[in-house]
Amino acid sequence: MLSKKMEEALNAQINAEFWSAYLYLSMSADFAAKGKPGFANWMHIQFKEEQEHAIKFFNYVISRGGKPELKPIEEVKTSWESPLEAFEDTLAHEQKVTAMINDLYGLAVEEKDYATQSMLRWFIDEQVEEEETAQGIIEALNMIKDNGFGLYTLDKELATRVYTPIAE
Ligand code: FEO
Repeated sequence: MLSKKMEEALNAQINAEFWSAYLYLSMSADFAAKGKPGFANWMHIQFKEEQEHAIKFFNYVISRGGKPELKPIEEVKTSWESPLEAFEDTLAHEQKVTAMINDLYGLAVEEKDYATQSMLRWFIDEQVEEEETAQGIIEALNMIKDNGFGLYTLDKELATRVYTPIAE
């Protein structure tokens, strides 16, 4: 059984993961509208992954006898000046999510909730990958700057990303 405090914190994380999904879907829409289908594809897959993260927390709360409470999802930005700005926002957001996951882990340690610590370790590893990937694309965009052919090539590369569901 989850403590009330842990249940509330996990519920807040469900909302944060859905907000992340909404943010990346909005970025996907913006890229699609600006003729960058590869970037749009990459963000669309990111959107799907965030939904999975939310559901992973959702299922976990239920499995521990708690109840997910779905709260409104805050508005997200709808337009970005450049791919670089979108990926800088992505990295900043993922760093914020990492801090949230770390806080959840800290709470689970404080409460001697070993099952929640075990569940969160998957997310701790996932965040390393999320930040590394966003950082890598930022580095590529910094090299490309306004070079049209570079952007075209990166768009083609991001178009190849495929969705792989996470193991539940
Ligand atoms: Fe659900 Fe991108 O962290």
